[in-house]
Amino acid sequence: MQILVCGGGNAAHTLVGLISAQGARRVDVYLSFDDEQRRWRAGLEQQGGITVHLPGGDLFGRPDRISADPAQVVPQADMVLLALPAFAHEKVLHQIAPYLKANAWIGALPARGAFDLCARQALKDRAEQVVLFGLQTLPWACRVESFGRSVRVLGTKAQVDLACWPAEATVEVAAVLTPLLGLQVEPIANFLSLTLAGTGQLIHPGIMFGLFRNWDGQLYESPPLFYQSVDSSTAEVLEAMSTEIQALRLALEARFPEMDFSAVRPLREWLLISYPTDIEDASSLKSAFVTNRSYTGLRAPMRTVEGGLAPDFQGRYLSEDVHYGLVPTRGIAELAGVPTPQIDGVITWAQGCLGQEYLVAGKLCGNDLGSTPAPQRFGYQSIEALVEEPMLGIQDG
Ligand code: NAI
Repeated sequence: MQILVCGGGNAAHTLVGLISAQGARRVDVYLSFDDEQRRWRAGLEQQGGITVHLPGGDLFGRPDRISADPAQVVPQADMVLLALPAFAHEKVLHQIAPYLKANAWIGALPARGAFDLCARQALKDRAEQVVLFGLQTLPWACRVESFGRSVRVLGTKAQVDLACWPAEATVEVAAVLTPLLGLQVEPIANFLSLTLAGTGQLIHPGIMFGLFRNWDGQLYESPPLFYQSVDSSTAEVLEAMSTEIQALRLALEARFPEMDFSAVRPLREWLLISYPTDIEDASSLKSAFVTNRSYTGLRAPMRTVEGGLAPDFQGRYLSEDVHYGLVPTRGIAELAGVPTPQIDGVITWAQGCLGQEYLVAGKLCGNDLGSTPAPQRFGYQSIEALVEEPMLGIQDG
């Protein structure tokens, strides 16, 4: 099986090193930025490959080819792994679509909200010829140490959920990904569950809201801890957001009893499944964050300004997890008629920080909705249309 990794950052370094170290598969890299390509080549020339520093020991692997030309690396790929932030998914899918081979598997690690809708829109008629898949999260917390040379894996999740379109492919794709990624890849029933199960959309905007909703402009000397700063009031916000998603899950289960939404788990349950040995005190949501070793020392995103540090509201914790996470989830809730007051509060605060407009007077009809993957963007007007029509092909957005 020939594999193509799209992207050149932390996730791409980890994937390329990890998979090519296994030896049996050819791994190519598609980098759409010339400067990144140069940095990868320079690093690879110096060391001959990428070292992946895992907690249990190092691995070393080398990609076969690196290219900024999709015509060179896409046509041979049996599996395409998008190791990209969500805002780059549609752009890169547009670039590779003309070259994809029939029956290729194309997946996002991680998929954010409604990746299936975005991908089908971007791939157009090609979408019918391929298998789409998405992982609920990136399996690793990882950081590049040296471009084209080494990456450090700080933590690995015990299991990660996988959804496919068409859904019949899920078990087969999970069976291939589990040994390839070196952790349990768990098949789940449908992409809609994957969208709702995304926990980054709760954790990152929820903690940002908890940390900075009352920020008065006073600058920081050093970045505050992120996960370890979760106090009782932030934990209440996170709990309320999670409870609203669970209410949505119950409403969907009542409306569509033949469908399985069991992968849409409460936040604390997800933490315990993902970090079974890292959490010291799991007695409350707050303690599950504060005592999770995988989160130790990770700090809030800040930017340097004159006189100190200010919160970085344009970073991914809001720009990715709200725009590509919370907003599509809110869109599904609106179609299902399920109120989400706490999620609305976080979106309303975040849209002010981001300079975006999603919610207007409690309705998802703001000016910036058209660039999100909310189902409304793709023309879905009812929850039935969203749930029952995916196999008929995407509607015009
Ligand atoms: P990164 O910032 O290290 O790399 C992203 C790569 O995407 C860039 O190197 C570039 O090759 C490509 N890219 C960025 N903007 C692009 C554009 N406009 N057009 C085309 N390509 C573009 O990101 P990282 O850390 O690899 O993360 C990938 C995804 O995984 C993100 O969604 C991130 O939120 C998620 N994630 C990352 C974790 C981590 O520990 N690194 C942990 C959990 C999730």
